[in-house]
Amino acid sequence: MMQDLAMHILDLGQNSIRANAKNIEICLWIDDEKDCITFRLVDDGIGMDEDMQKRVLDPFFSTRTTRKIGLGIPFIKELAELCNGSFLLQSEVGKGTTLEITLQKSCWDTPPLGDVGEAMMMLIQADGTIEYVLDYRHHGEFIMKTTEIKEILGDVNIQEPSILLWLKEYINENIK
Ligand SMILES: Nc1ncnc2c1ncn2[C@@H]1O[C@H](COP(=O)(O)OP(=O)(O)OP(=O)(O)O)[C@@H](O)[C@H]1O
Ligand SMILES: [Mg+2]
Repeated sequence: MMQDLAMHILDLGQNSIRANAKNIEICLWIDDEKDCITFRLVDDGIGMDEDMQKRVLDPFFSTRTTRKIGLGIPFIKELAELCNGSFLLQSEVGKGTTLEITLQKSCWDTPPLGDVGEAMMMLIQADGTIEYVLDYRHHGEFIMKTTEIKEILGDVNIQEPSILLWLKEYINENIK
């Protein structure tokens, strides 16, 4: 399992997009003192009932008919366990889904952050009508909200290639 966290962000964000979320919030909190990385994704998509929440942890379950080999929820759960962390999935039909994992930062198996800017760029590229929030904390705090970006952009589409590339750099500059 050599994926980085950014690839999980992209993969889980795509779940939220497929679940018709209008708002997706991604928190990435790194606490050196507590030796802990917290990753949380909150969406307001269609949600899952309890039965579905249990089944979703089975790596061979998917509601997709054309299944590519993805990362999926079972893998992020396994990663959390491997990295002395925790896994929490909360969901309500019609309300949305929250997924939160923690990882021990210094654990050998804890993957690097990877290209978070690129992951966010690809999510916005996949659906520009969704409002995204990226809440990154490590020493300081960096918050990116597409609502604010869109306000600044005015008539310019957030999915313009030059804007997407700028956003990617902007995020990566602020989280390194
Ligand atoms: N945020 C979410 N909101 C609602 N349903 C979800 C959400 N995330 C996952 N699901 C449901 O759980 C199923 C399993 O998700 P998982 O990410 O493990 O696999 P997948 O998305 O089906 O396939 P892959 O991620 O491998 O492309 C999904 O098919 C979907 O029905
Ligand atoms: Mg998926």
